[in-house]
Amino acid sequence: MNQTPEEFEDKDLVETAGIPSNQGEFVEDNLYDLVGGKEFFKTLCSKFYEGVAQDEILRPMYPEGDLAPAAERLQMFLEQYWGGPKTYQEQRGHPRLRLRHQQFKINPAARAAWVKHMRAALDAQQLPAIYDEQMWGYLDSAATAMLNTFED
Ligand code: HEM
Repeated sequence: MNQTPEEFEDKDLVETAGIPSNQGEFVEDNLYDLVGGKEFFKTLCSKFYEGVAQDEILRPMYPEGDLAPAAERLQMFLEQYWGGPKTYQEQRGHPRLRLRHQQFKINPAARAAWVKHMRAALDAQQLPAIYDEQMWGYLDSAATAMLNTFED
């Protein structure tokens, strides 16, 4: 699932992810339902933002005192990506995530911090390995696509 930044921006995750079965063919089910729907994504994102709140690289990027609205945007986006409701698109329009992240300095250290908190949030959910791997493959490569500088 590794994508170049251009491929990432084109697809920009408006497309719903396809879920391969054990035999490798794509099945109708979507990961949104399989992992537990809205509750799963809500818990994932609030746990992730608990980590962000404590992080000295990431926290200063959020001028808002309250991180809950940012957690909700991420939740809506991930729900849409994994086949759930399209609320993100309705409220925020086309994701254009690389563009929306351009204003933040995302160097390898910022990426590593983001990935660390997301990994911890996903670990806490204890998904079956096959779902964990699919979700992680996407999140990790999306975080790479968001890099926009190598300066400290
Ligand atoms: C790689 C490190 C990353 C950093 C440092 C970062 C940082 C940020 C910051 C500071 C915001 C603004 C908060 C807000 O107002 O919503 C934001 C928004 C957002 N981020 Fe990230 N982000 C990263 C990676 C990702 C990844 C990998 C995804 C998706 C898989 C993602 C999805 C989003 C979404 C959906 C929004 C809200 C966009 C909007 O509708 O305005 N971010 N991010």
